[in-house]
Amino acid sequence: MSSVIYPTTNFTATEQLCITHGEGIHVYDSDGKEYIEGLAGLWCTSLGYSNSEVVEAITEQLHRLPFQHTFGGKTHEPVMQLADKLKAMVPVEDAYFFFGNSGSDANDSHYKMLRYYFNAIGKPEKRKIITRERGYHGVTVAAGALTSLPANLAHFDAPLEALSILRTDAPHYYTGRKGNETEAQFVDRILTSLEDQILAEDPATIAAMIVEPITGASGVIVPPEGYYEGLQALLRKHDILVWADEVICGFGRTGADFGSTTMGIKPDLMTFAKQLSSAYFPISAAVIPGWMYDAMIDQTNQVGVFGHGYTYSGHPAACAAALKTLEIYERDGIFEHAAEVGAYMQTRLREMFEDHPMVGEVRGKGLIAALELVSNKTTGATIAGGKGGAAAVQACQAEGLILRAVAGNALAFCPPLIITRDEVDEMLRRAKAGVDAAYDQLKSEGLLDG
Ligand SMILES: Cc1ncc(COP(=O)(O)O)c(C=O)c1O
Repeated sequence: MSSVIYPTTNFTATEQLCITHGEGIHVYDSDGKEYIEGLAGLWCTSLGYSNSEVVEAITEQLHRLPFQHTFGGKTHEPVMQLADKLKAMVPVEDAYFFFGNSGSDANDSHYKMLRYYFNAIGKPEKRKIITRERGYHGVTVAAGALTSLPANLAHFDAPLEALSILRTDAPHYYTGRKGNETEAQFVDRILTSLEDQILAEDPATIAAMIVEPITGASGVIVPPEGYYEGLQALLRKHDILVWADEVICGFGRTGADFGSTTMGIKPDLMTFAKQLSSAYFPISAAVIPGWMYDAMIDQTNQVGVFGHGYTYSGHPAACAAALKTLEIYERDGIFEHAAEVGAYMQTRLREMFEDHPMVGEVRGKGLIAALELVSNKTTGATIAGGKGGAAAVQACQAEGLILRAVAGNALAFCPPLIITRDEVDEMLRRAKAGVDAAYDQLKSEGLLDG
């Protein structure tokens, strides 16, 4: 065994699969076995595994200028071009972009910029951030505190109170409804509970609320109709900013440019990473509106600098990767393709799995989806210890399909955006064989009661 500390891995079960190369939507292991990458790596390899145009753009940039920082007035062409390009794309007024290397660090940058901004406008008490149960926003200290998944919090003793994080309900009707509650009643209840919490905390102390338009790691939750409309009205009423974490949804994943577009969100702040460069080079962006930037100008002048920045903020090769990726999205109509093939994938998933005895809910939009694996289809009872998700992932892997189980028993699909209809058919054929095999195994082990 090597000495790597593997992220998000049980240390008693490391180094199970070594991937050596990729082609299109496929990857290959060290035994030469081919897999469909049904989760686009970690929800990120939108253009698949062999886009030579992006590789060439990075290589060319590395030959010309492998590094230039962006501190203290220094800059370079690719970073300015990327900001201009993104500015024309995003639904944020007169947007400004702080570049980093990961979704987590972008969320931390936002966390700090919010404090910086409210200090600048003389409201230092406006510092709490609302996040949702089951939300995933990364693992650095502030972003990790905004994340609500138990494994990301356990044993790390994050300074949650010092970071002033408030948690509210996850908008998942299937697992969160009470009794015979309708979707509309569910939405009403969780928004009323949020408003009670805001009033109890004092709205003047709350800066922003962070949401993934459609969640990823918490099980691909698509909030019900009316949720975002009600949520935004509530936040605007109490002067709380809307912060859309688009790290997974951004750039075509949900069948539109951003998850905010798909879900009808008008964000004040946005976070990007992953598909911004199709994961060919690490890059992230924390997006703020012009009025927030303008309010911070004097403050930076007083201190002498805006004292935040990473060595690799706006790395030239990362910017070159993002610029080429965005050019390909536009030129090849990748978002439109994702909308069309995504609608097909959603239909086929429902046709193939809605009646499956171990599937309680099929959900998703565009090219992101999940099957909720349950022990009892009628009651929706979960499978103990996330064993359904784990068994299905293993069985799908044996069939040549890499998927990921999230939030225990949610089997997630998030293939590269370049996937074709025929490839969707093949992916779902392998998924069906895998889920059926997992069902037989769990049934024989007595873990299902349906
Ligand atoms: C919605 C969301 N935000 C933030 C992150 C953190 O991104 P990174 O792993 O690049 O730090 C992720 C990662 O999956 C994510 O899904």
